[in-house]
This record gives sequence, structure tokens and C-alpha cells, in this order.
Amino acid sequence: MVLSAALFLFGAARADLAFHPGEVWRDTDGQPIQAHGGGILIYSNIYYWYGEDRTPEIRSAVSCYSSTNLLDWKREGVALWQTNLPIANGHRTFVERPKVIYNPRTKKFVMWLHTEQGRYHFASAGVALSDTPMGPFTFLKTFRPITNNIGFAEDDVDGQNKFGGTFRDMNLFVDDDGRAYTFYSSEGNWTMYVVRLNADFTGPELPAVENKTWSRILVRQMREGPAPFKWKGKYFLITSACTGWAPNAANYSVAENILGPWKTFENPCTGLDSAKTFGGQSTFVLPSPGKSDQFIFMADRWNPSDLPDSRYLWLPFTLPADGTLTIPWRDQWSF
Ligand code: GAL
Repeated sequence: MVLSAALFLFGAARADLAFHPGEVWRDTDGQPIQAHGGGILIYSNIYYWYGEDRTPEIRSAVSCYSSTNLLDWKREGVALWQTNLPIANGHRTFVERPKVIYNPRTKKFVMWLHTEQGRYHFASAGVALSDTPMGPFTFLKTFRPITNNIGFAEDDVDGQNKFGGTFRDMNLFVDDDGRAYTFYSSEGNWTMYVVRLNADFTGPELPAVENKTWSRILVRQMREGPAPFKWKGKYFLITSACTGWAPNAANYSVAENILGPWKTFENPCTGLDSAKTFGGQSTFVLPSPGKSDQFIFMADRWNPSDLPDSRYLWLPFTLPADGTLTIPWRDQWSF
């Protein structure tokens, strides 16, 4: 995402109001926000927050909220309906970790997501398109972006020998040159893939050539929840370990070239429960409006016994001159 911070009329008038990580966060109608595993699109000076809509009893897969100050979120409605998701092999699919970017060439809003089925073996990318940020998005296709067989077992439960590396926890990143990438946990979550997208952002750049258009990174490190961002020409990627809904220690990796090599550093979190990422799992990093060294770390504190009540942890951090990442816990904070 290219952030032209100067364009922002940021909500200084709301300095009295603070972010409260981990507390119930209500939308402007007073309803708890339902945007789990989400991410932010900035378009036309408005923030759009997309995420898993786990509101019981409505057939919504992805929600969309809008805001101009990052604190007050208006529910724009359902960006993608469950009923628009494909049936595969006779079984319905569901969605995790949706992200949206805008393609200025096609003028489409492009949503990528992890499409899945009950046992998590479908593990495929989904792409949906819309002419407006709110949607509703039209589902385009499911697929595995990289189909290389790196020597997967014949009887691989995820069908990787036939269809290529799995696509589970994912994110999107638009570089300063306008080229977009997807980061995703692949090879049964063992290895992260970073894949440059085609000009429409609807699939991988083709022909896909390893280390030229895509790369295997964090090889055999078993990382999830990829949250990429760029600072001073360097790429950063915060990830979690792979323990389902249970929290674990984050770490982060840094690269000069988005396709690698990436170097991994220890858990950047400090303070209360930092060894378990404050009980959360990374989902996104948002550049702070108007501040080139400041970012907001977004994580989900999952509640496996009541997933709709999973909470959001948004925590600000500042990168010092040497680029060492530290994310301190805060009970509350404001801009
Ligand atoms: C987590 C993953 C979540 C969800 C969950 C299911 O590891 O980050 O997005 O897939 O597993 O157990």
C-alpha cells in the first residue's frame, strides 16, 4: 500500500479517545466490530477495514468498515457473501484472512483470501473483484498460485504434488513501484512464499520463475500470520509461529529485496505477555498516518470457544535509526 500521508486529514479532534487493545471494539452503530484476520486499504483518504465476518446467523464471509480516523468505524456491510463462495469437490468453502488492494490500471478493488474447507486441506487462494471498496465483491476463482512440485509426497494430504504448495495464512503488499505481492504460508505451513502478482493483481506473474517472480522464504521455519511492511527501502515481515488459535511468540524478518534473502530476528514484543504476542497473532501492519517511522501492529486475540468474540490488538511502534523492531504493550494509547 502506498501511503501518501500528506493527504490525510487525520482525526486530531479525537485525541481524547484512545485505542484499547483487547477490549470490545464497537462500530459507530454500537455493534462489536467483526473483521478478524483483517487488513486495511487506504483509498481516497478513507481507511477500509476488511476481515472475517463471524457475525452469527448472517451469511457473510468478509465485512467492510470505513473510517477517517482509525478509531471510529462505520460498518459498510458485507463485502463478500458466503453464498458467493465456490463449492469445491461437493463441499462448501469458507474464508480466512481476507485482504484488499486497489489496482489503478484496471480500476478494480482486488480481494485475496484463504479459501478453505473443514479439514484445512483445500488450502487455496481465492480472488474476488469489485468496482467499489465496499463491494459486494464478485468471486473470481480459487487456485494455488505456485504449482511447482518441490518433491511433495505422492499421498500428500494437501494434494501439493498435484496442485502445488498450499495457500493458508496470507497477506498482500503493494510496493512503491506499484507491483503487488502475496505472502503466504505454503508447503503445509512449513515455508513462506512471496509471489509477485500479474498486472491485474488476479494471479501470479507468469511465467512464474523461482527467485525472479517468486521465492521460498523463511524455509522450514513454520511461520504464519505474515504482516509485511516497508521502511527506508527495507522489507519487514512480522510472523507468528503455527499453533492454531493459540498465541505464540512472534518474530520478524528483514530483507533488502522482497524476494530475499530474508534474515530473521527474535520476538519484537515487549511488556505484558509479550512472549505470546500479548495473546494475539499478527495480521497486518499499517503505516501510521503522516509519520514515516511509525506503524500500527494489528493482531487478533482469538477466542476459539467463541470466535466472534475474538479481540483486536492494535499497537503503535516506532522504528529507531538502526531498524531494530520493538512493539511494546500498551493498555491504551492515542495519536
Ligand atoms: C491459525 C491461523 C488462523 C486459522 C487457525 C485455524 O494458525 O492463523 O488463520 O487458520 O489457525 O485453526
